[in-house]
Amino acid sequence: MKAKFPKGFLWGAATSAYQIEGAWNEDGKGESIWDRFSHTPGKISGDDTGDTACDHYHRFRDDVAIMRRLGLKTYRFSVSWPRVLPRGRGQPNPKGLDFYSRLVDALLEAGIEPFLTLYHWDLPQALQDEGGWSSRSIVDAFLEYAELLAKKLGDRVHSWMTVNEPYVTAFVGHLEGQHAPGHQDLDEALRVAHYQLLAHGMTVTLLRELIPDAQVGIVLNLAPVHAASRDLADRRAARLADGRLNRWFLDPLADRGYPEDMVRYFNRPMDFVANGDMNRIAVPIDFLGVNYYTRLVIHSPESKLPQEVAPRNERTDMGWEVYPEGLYEILGRLHFEYRFPMYFVAENGAAYPDQIEPEDIVRDEKRIAYLRDHILQVHRAISAGMPVRGYFAWSLLDNFEWAHGYGKRFGIVYVDFSTQRRIIKESARFYASVISENGIWLPKKNAG
Ligand code: FCB
Repeated sequence: MKAKFPKGFLWGAATSAYQIEGAWNEDGKGESIWDRFSHTPGKISGDDTGDTACDHYHRFRDDVAIMRRLGLKTYRFSVSWPRVLPRGRGQPNPKGLDFYSRLVDALLEAGIEPFLTLYHWDLPQALQDEGGWSSRSIVDAFLEYAELLAKKLGDRVHSWMTVNEPYVTAFVGHLEGQHAPGHQDLDEALRVAHYQLLAHGMTVTLLRELIPDAQVGIVLNLAPVHAASRDLADRRAARLADGRLNRWFLDPLADRGYPEDMVRYFNRPMDFVANGDMNRIAVPIDFLGVNYYTRLVIHSPESKLPQEVAPRNERTDMGWEVYPEGLYEILGRLHFEYRFPMYFVAENGAAYPDQIEPEDIVRDEKRIAYLRDHILQVHRAISAGMPVRGYFAWSLLDNFEWAHGYGKRFGIVYVDFSTQRRIIKESARFYASVISENGIWLPKKNAG
């Protein structure tokens, strides 16, 4: 039996600029907050940096050739803002713009549809010096940046993603401090969340004006949040975790404003919300991008019951529980509770410590199982009537995994960082077969 996908389903892979490009100070590129952060000793595991990463800036043609070999229908990449606007606004950098123009041409020549993410975390340091995402002036700078790219690439790029995972920038970058710029301040985190949402909404409107056939969306990292037991303390804690991770972003996008329970919980002045902001944020999107990796199981220290919901033993190298059903759960919630017009799984994948065997074989069976089980949940969602139009594996290449450096390998293609050699993993072969069949063969039930 085969789980068949609808005709035209978009199979892709995703990357982001800072994680793969390298060439951090070449051809006029400006400094980003991730350059600054990774160059600060102690911030990144092993003090790794993205200075060279996968050297994709120089090797993009080879990488596009790999994508073509795998049969990818689409490719999600991000633009490095300081590569095209070294100071964040003002004078553009023609060489940086040309790089993306050549990349887009190479993709189109290979029959691969580009999905362009405007912001995947590498803010120009010059803008950070003016307050970065916590200052309202960032919104105008973002619009200037979006306009520049729309004018340069809008004749060839139709699918645009404004901001990747605003939750992570706000709370991991500005409250927990593990990501650039490494701040720890709740007031700032809330402002950062708001200005990202505002920049997103205004950019949707702008891109629609500049590119008539554009489809525009935003990408959120979402996860089902389960209470560890029936104890009220666990259920309350789970509700708050859900509020912070999911609802703080979904509700404003769906025109419901910020969730009131969370506003009360954070208990901070929301004076950064100006008249008209919430309407601008809630401008209808064409699609929602969903990044899904795992679920959260919340056990409150005040709970009087033992943990009843036991996370499975199977965990990835990130320590994340493998929980494929959560992808179906989150898509169902989006479809039935929020009703966005369509969805892309914009990232899904797993880190495992891969080994190269003789003859360049990387037998990454756990990653194959991870991808297969999640893709089957996407199939289940589509069968239940949810409008999921595409799936992007994270990631095309092993790459710089933020604070973890190069220690965590998410690629379906192995990268030997000392030589930059690429080796196709078995998971990439598996994925290529899913793409060419537009479906997955399932083992026969009750056979024999
Ligand atoms: C997501 C990020 C992506 C990658 C994966 C593992 O949060 O968007 O860049 O790091 O996690």
